[in-house]
Amino acid sequence: MYRTHTCGELRLENAGQTVTLAGWVQKNRKMGGMSFIDLRDRYGITQVVIDESSSSELNEKVAGLGREYVIQVTGIVEERQGKNPRIPTGDIEIKLTHLNILNEATIPPFTIEDESDGGEEIRAKYRYLDLRRNPLKRALTLRHKLAHETRNFLDGRNFIEIETPFLIKSTPEGARDFVVPSRMHPGEFYALPQSPQQYKQLLMVAGYDRYFQIVRCFRDEDLRADRQPEFTQIDCEMSFVEREDVLNTFEDLMKHLFKSVLKVEFKEQFPRISYADAMRYYGSDKPDIRFGMKIREITDKVKGHDFVVFDSSPYIGGIVVEGIASYTRKQIDELTEWVKRPQVGAKGLIYIRVSEEGIKSSIDKFFSAEELQALADDMGANKGDMIFIMAGKQKKTQVALGTLRIELGNRLGLRRPDRFAPLWVYDFPLLEWDEETKRFYAMHHPFTSPKPEDLEKFYSNHKEDLEQVAANAYDFVLNGTELGGGSIRIFDSNIQKRMFEVLGMSEEEYLYKFGFMIDAFKYGAPPHGGIAFGFDRLCALFGGQETIRDFIAFPKNNTGRDVMCDAPSKIDDTQMAELFLKSTAKN
Ligand code: AMO
Repeated sequence: MYRTHTCGELRLENAGQTVTLAGWVQKNRKMGGMSFIDLRDRYGITQVVIDESSSSELNEKVAGLGREYVIQVTGIVEERQGKNPRIPTGDIEIKLTHLNILNEATIPPFTIEDESDGGEEIRAKYRYLDLRRNPLKRALTLRHKLAHETRNFLDGRNFIEIETPFLIKSTPEGARDFVVPSRMHPGEFYALPQSPQQYKQLLMVAGYDRYFQIVRCFRDEDLRADRQPEFTQIDCEMSFVEREDVLNTFEDLMKHLFKSVLKVEFKEQFPRISYADAMRYYGSDKPDIRFGMKIREITDKVKGHDFVVFDSSPYIGGIVVEGIASYTRKQIDELTEWVKRPQVGAKGLIYIRVSEEGIKSSIDKFFSAEELQALADDMGANKGDMIFIMAGKQKKTQVALGTLRIELGNRLGLRRPDRFAPLWVYDFPLLEWDEETKRFYAMHHPFTSPKPEDLEKFYSNHKEDLEQVAANAYDFVLNGTELGGGSIRIFDSNIQKRMFEVLGMSEEEYLYKFGFMIDAFKYGAPPHGGIAFGFDRLCALFGGQETIRDFIAFPKNNTGRDVMCDAPSKIDDTQMAELFLKSTAKN
C-alpha cells in the first residue's frame, strides 16, 4: 500500500498514529539539527520532520531530497510546536521513521507555488508542472464539479446524454471547419463538428425529446481570451417546447449550478431583454448589467443649436458616469483618444461636467448653462457626475458608447468578478447582411426559425424586409460574456429550404450540403428548440476569471498551438501520400 492518508487529511486527532503518505517534495529545509520536508499531493501539504536522534542513514537520505522528488514516508503523527494556521494540516507534523524515494526529479524550470516565477510560455511548455499548482488544481476541480452538477440536474429533468460523431460532413457557416482527410476515400474530407447542431436536431426527429451532451466542439477561428479552437459545450435540445420552456428549464440549470457550486442563490427570475433594448441601453448584445450607466438617446433634445456635429447626426446618445466630475482635462483627453482608436471607432467624445461649482462642457459655445442643466437633469445626472456624449450613425454610435461604458466600468472597478449578473437576450435579427460578399448570413445558424409574425417578410425578396425579420433566438449572458445561445428551430422542410435560399444557396448546393436534414424533416419532425452553453466560459466566470485557458487542462496558446507537444506539426511523406495530400506551404 502506497499510502494510508493523503497530504491534506491529518489533524490533531490523528496524533499518535503511524501513517504512510506519498507525494512530491515541495520544500526540504534544514534548521538547526532538524530537517523539515513539505510533502505535497493533490489534497494539500503535510510537514514531515526528522531530527539528529534518527539514524544518520535516514538523515542523509533526507538531505539528498530535491524539489519535486516523489517519495513515500512513514512516521508518527505528532502535535506541532509552532502551528501553521494557514494550512488545514498545520496543527500536526509527521515524525519520520521511514523514507522511500519513489522517483527522483530534475529541478523544475519554475517554482510550483501559488504565485509561480515562471512566464506564460514556459509554464505552457511544462503544463503538467503548472497543473501541480493550486490555482490550476482549483480551476480543474471547479470544472469537474460544474460538469457533475450539470449531469445531475439534467438527468433529474429526464434529459439523456447521447454522444454524436466527431468525424462529420463539412458544412461551414459561421467559423471555418477543421478538416480531416480520408485515407479510404481519396480526395475527400471529414470535418470536426463546430457543434452537434444537426445531430441533436436529428435526435429530436428520432424521438429523444430531451437530449444533452457535454461535448467538444472545434472551430478554426481567431483566438481571444474567451475562445479556443477546441472548446466544450453543454449542448441541449428539447422537443415540443416554446421559447419560454427552454428559457425556464435552463434558467433552472444555471440557478442550480450557482447554488450547488458557488452557494449563490437567485430567488428572482433572471432579467429578460430584447436584442433591440440591449443595443439601445447597453450598446451590446451581451450587456454587463453588474452596473448601471445605461445609454440614453438624446437625439431630439440637442439638435438645433448650430452645433454641426449634432445637427448632422442621425443619432446622439450619452451615458452618465457617477462621481467622476473631478476627472481632469488630461483624463478626459486621454479617454477621447481612447474612443477614437479603430477598435472603438468613435469620432470624438463630448463631455458635460456636473460639479458643485456649476456645469462645464465641451459644447458651452452652443448651449447655455441652463440648457445644459436641463439636459443633465433629463439624463438623471447629479452633482459630481460626468456625462459623455457621442453622435453618428445609430448602431455604430450605440456600440461605441457601449464599449466606453464597459471601459469605464473596468476603470472604476464596477465589474467585480465576485458579483454575478445573469440575463437573457432574445429576438435577435435572423439575418445579417455582409457588404463584402453581398449576401445574408444567419446571425445564429441556418436552423433557427424566423418568428411566425415575420414569415411574410421572410418570403419577401427585398433586402429591407429580410433585414427586419426577427429570429426566435436567445442568448444567455453573464457579466458581459455570451455564455450560451440557442433558438427554436425550423422544423418544416419548406421553411428550411427557403432559409437556404435566403442565404444565397442554390437548390443543388443546399441539397448537397443539407439534403439529409431536409429529408429528415419530411418524416415527422416535432417542433423543437434548444441551447448550448460555452462550458469553458462558464467555468472561468464561476472561477472569477475572463480567460478560459486555465480552466482547460491542456489548452492551445493564442496562435492555436499546443506548445507542450508542439502541435500542429508536419507529417511524413508516406502519411501525406496515403492521404493523397501535397503541401503547397513554403518551407
Ligand atoms: P454558439 O455558436 O452560440 O451556438 O455557441 C454556444 C456557446 O459556445 C461558446 N463558444 C465558445 N467557447 C470557447 N471558444 C470558442 N471558440 C467558442 N465558440 C462558442 C459560447 C457560445 O455562447 N449549436 C448552437 C447552439 C444552439 O443553437 O443550440 C451553437 O453552437 O459561450
